[in-house]
Amino acid sequence: MSSQTFAARLRAETRDAHQSAESQRYVSALTSGELDVAGYTALVVAHHVIYAALEGAAETMRDDPLAGPFVDDALTRLPALAADLRFLLGPRWREAMEPVPAAAAYAARITSACAASPERFIAHHYIRYLGDLSGGRHIGRCVARYYGVTGEAGASFYSFPRITDPKSYKDAYRARLDALPLDDAGRSVLRDEVLVAYEHNIAVFTDLGRLVAASGREGAA
Ligand code: HEM
Repeated sequence: MSSQTFAARLRAETRDAHQSAESQRYVSALTSGELDVAGYTALVVAHHVIYAALEGAAETMRDDPLAGPFVDDALTRLPALAADLRFLLGPRWREAMEPVPAAAAYAARITSACAASPERFIAHHYIRYLGDLSGGRHIGRCVARYYGVTGEAGASFYSFPRITDPKSYKDAYRARLDALPLDDAGRSVLRDEVLVAYEHNIAVFTDLGRLVAASGREGAA
């Protein structure tokens, strides 16, 4: 038996998958300013599809004894994404969206997995929001620097006005993970779903890399 907390173990057991997601070619192209605004916008469109599924599932989980404590309106990203897309694509942004196929597949997984289990919902919740409060802050700074989008216009997704201290928030979140009344089987379900979610994130970055390469915006492959 390990003496590590569940949150620490989850982090350790998904470290390689995280490493693989953060080192995707699209991510490095995005964060080093190699794309143009349209290349960035494709990610915002993908996020809209993904968060529509996640935050739809969150509504159904609000009163769940296991997952309910994770649902927090301070995290909600969909209104920010809608505002960003209105800025980036104009008032008819909904019709203008052309999501990459992997975003729809990721959303479908979220919807089916969360309908089946609160552990799986927590997995999808964890990977997105803890990621947004971690590497997401770095990505937000990069896109502001290179693509002229900010928390006020085009990149409000990356700012959490109601979370003034992300470190404390993440510490409390990890304590909530540690307090989950799950046995080993339940913890494995959660961990395995996090790994599935990392695969979906990697697939989205692969599609986005192909898209920007095909449009000649960047040499991503
Ligand atoms: C430029 C890309 C990225 C960078 C630089 C980055 C960086 C980081 C860093 C430094 C942490 C540790 C933060 C802390 O301990 O407080 C972290 C945590 C995390 N990141 Fe990323 N990340 C990136 C992309 C991603 C992606 C694409 C995902 C998944 C969608 C993701 C999901 C997570 C999660 C779930 C955690 C929390 C791990 C834990 O403590 O349990 N990250 N990231």
